[in-house]
Amino acid sequence: MRRTTLTQFLIERERAGRINADLRLLIETIARACKAISVRVNKGSLGGGGASVGVQNVQGETQKALDVLSNEILLEANEWGGNLAALASEEMENPSPIPTHYPRGEYLLLFDPLDGSSNIDVNISTGTIFSVLRCPHGHDGKPCEPDEQAFLQPGNKQVAAGFAVYGPTTILVVTVGDGAHGFTLDRETFSFALTHPEIRIPEETSEFAINTSNMRRWEAPVKRYIDECLAGKDGPRGRDFNMRWVASMVADVFRVISRGGIFMYPRDSKNKDGRLRLMYEANPMAFIVEQAGGAATEGRTRILDIQPKGLHQRIAVVLGSKQEVERVASYHP
Ligand code: AHG
Ligand code: MN
Ligand code: MN
Repeated sequence: MRRTTLTQFLIERERAGRINADLRLLIETIARACKAISVRVNKGSLGGGGASVGVQNVQGETQKALDVLSNEILLEANEWGGNLAALASEEMENPSPIPTHYPRGEYLLLFDPLDGSSNIDVNISTGTIFSVLRCPHGHDGKPCEPDEQAFLQPGNKQVAAGFAVYGPTTILVVTVGDGAHGFTLDRETFSFALTHPEIRIPEETSEFAINTSNMRRWEAPVKRYIDECLAGKDGPRGRDFNMRWVASMVADVFRVISRGGIFMYPRDSKNKDGRLRLMYEANPMAFIVEQAGGAATEGRTRILDIQPKGLHQRIAVVLGSKQEVERVASYHP
């Protein structure tokens, strides 16, 4: 069976006027970088990727060799193409402008180069998350100045987003605003083939994903929701729930968009703003989940409507099957 490749899929989107050639090339380049990262992740202990490099990133987290390498792969792949004004990453304190000897384009790219890096050493899925914005023009039609301020746009301004999962297979999920579509890396042709077109999240589900070790620190609405799930058949929900937690957002979200469920990383008394990062984790995932018919909130506000205050801002995340997300939101006063 001949499947649509990512290249064909993007060219069709370009012909339909949904994306321009620059955005098509940008997504292709990100996909190529994800293939390179996937090869390195696959080397496992043979590649030394799980070793700590003894450096803390801007979040105060110790970087692993693969975090740094994945960041470099994405930077090198993307800086010369002429379609970007600047890049920003979990692993870099400030945005990185495109070097002056390359042409500058109209897009801004944000990424979490390796999500779930605590799982590298234990042979569990990791991934890459990305978000694409337009670089806004300055006052009086002045060209865009790609500083941090230019990046601070709500998620509803994203023109594309996606994530790769480096698991038993490498999967890339992409949206350009007309649905969420999944591609599997064919290791023989080394191209991405469309295997999950028009992903739809089942509306009714009985599976939740949350790190329950934080339970004693949660706020009341989240505690109530989980307590009701745990009460199962005997509780107000009248049915049993199942629990999963991979500790790689990419893997948890791929499961949720594949078979339904709810994923939560709420704020708590220790992580007062939540744990996940708004601009390169919550926003791209919220865009994908909404495009797949689901919902994403921080409790009261739709994630995509939040005006960011900082590049590395953290946010509470509740996303997945619409009915369940709406129920959690309704428990918030
Ligand atoms: P990263 O590896 O990019 O820092 O992100 C890890 C995130 C996310 O992938 C996952 O859902 C969460 O951290 C896991 O947190 P816990 O360690 O609290 O389970
Ligand atoms: Mn991450
Ligand atoms: Mn990361």
